[in-house]
Amino acid sequence: MIPDGYPNLSRAIAMQVAAFPEHESYLARRFAGENAAALTFADELAAVIERLSGDELATVYRDYRWLSDIVLEEEIFFRRHGRYRLTRFADAVEQVYANAPYMARYMNGLLASQLWWRNHSEVMRYFRDAFIAGHAPGASHLEVGPGHGLLLAIAATAPGHGLCEGWDISDASLAHSREGLRRLGIADEAVALRKIDIFDAPDAQFQSIAFSEVLEHLEDPLAALRALHRLLAPGGRLFVNAPVNSPAPDHLYLFRAPEEVEDMMRSAGFIIEGSLFAPCTGATLDRARRLTLTISAAVIGTR
Ligand SMILES: C[S@@+](CC[C@H](N)C(=O)[O-])C[C@H]1O[C@@H](n2cnc3c(N)ncnc32)[C@H](O)[C@@H]1O
Repeated sequence: MIPDGYPNLSRAIAMQVAAFPEHESYLARRFAGENAAALTFADELAAVIERLSGDELATVYRDYRWLSDIVLEEEIFFRRHGRYRLTRFADAVEQVYANAPYMARYMNGLLASQLWWRNHSEVMRYFRDAFIAGHAPGASHLEVGPGHGLLLAIAATAPGHGLCEGWDISDASLAHSREGLRRLGIADEAVALRKIDIFDAPDAQFQSIAFSEVLEHLEDPLAALRALHRLLAPGGRLFVNAPVNSPAPDHLYLFRAPEEVEDMMRSAGFIIEGSLFAPCTGATLDRARRLTLTISAAVIGTR
C-alpha cells in the first residue's frame, strides 16, 4: 500500500487493518499519490501515536473503528437535516465530556484519525512546522482542550519549548493527556494539566495558545476567541483548528466555509498570520466546497 522506508506507518496500517479489515481500501486511497514529505510526516506521526498509546495501541485502532461508525451516523443526520444534531453545550457535556468510557474511546479514535484522515494529518504538519517551529525559544504555551494530548505532546517535545499547560473541562481528557505525556517520558511537573473551562479562565497570559477542534464544540465560539485574546500575551500567536461541515457527536456550531473561522478570529481582535484549508481525504478544496464535505481550517492569528 505504501513504499518501503516508512516502518512506523507500515506497522500502524497493519494494526489498523487487523482491527478494521473493511477499511483497507480506504487506507490505500488515503496514501495513494502522497509525496515523500507527506509520507515522512505520517511515519513520524505514527511513531508518536505508538509511543503516546503504549500498551493501549491495539485499543486505539479498535476505537477508531467505533468512532468511524459514530461519525457515519452523525454524517447521515447532517445530510438529511443540513445541521448538526446537538445544539446545547449542556447536552454535549452530559453525553460526551462527562461520560468517561465514551470519552476514552472517542479520544482514542480521534488520535488515530490524525493519521488516517488526510485533513487531520495536514493540520498536524502545519501545527508542528508553521506554528510550533516558529516560536521564540522559551515561549510559554497553553493548549485549551488537549483531549488525547497529541498536540500538547508535540509542543512539549519541541526544541527550545517553554512552560506548557493544558486546560480541559473533561476529567477523562485530562487523564488521557497525562498518561500519554508520561509514556513520552514527560514529567508531570513539566506540563500543568488543569480542569478549566475557557469561559471561566483565570488571569494569565501565554505567548502561544493552541485551540484545536474545540471552537465548533461551543454555543458561543466568538466569546471563546475573545477569552483567548485576553489570554494571549501581546505579540503572541494563537493556533485555531476548526472543521467545516464536519458532523460529530459533540459538534454544535456549524462553520459552512473555512473563511468563517478567519472572520471570527478577526472579529475577536486577531491579525491573521497564515491559514491552511485542508479538504478531507480524496477531495480537492473546490470539490469539498461544492459538495459541503469536511474541510479543516487551521488558522494562525497574532495579537
Ligand atoms: C475534540 S477534542 C480536541 C482534541 C485535540 N485538541 C484535537 O485537536 O484533536 C475537544 C476537547 O475540548 C474539550 N472542551 C470542550 N469544551 C471546552 C471548554 N469550554 N473549555 C475547555 N475545554 C473544552 C473537550 O473536553 C475535549 O477534550
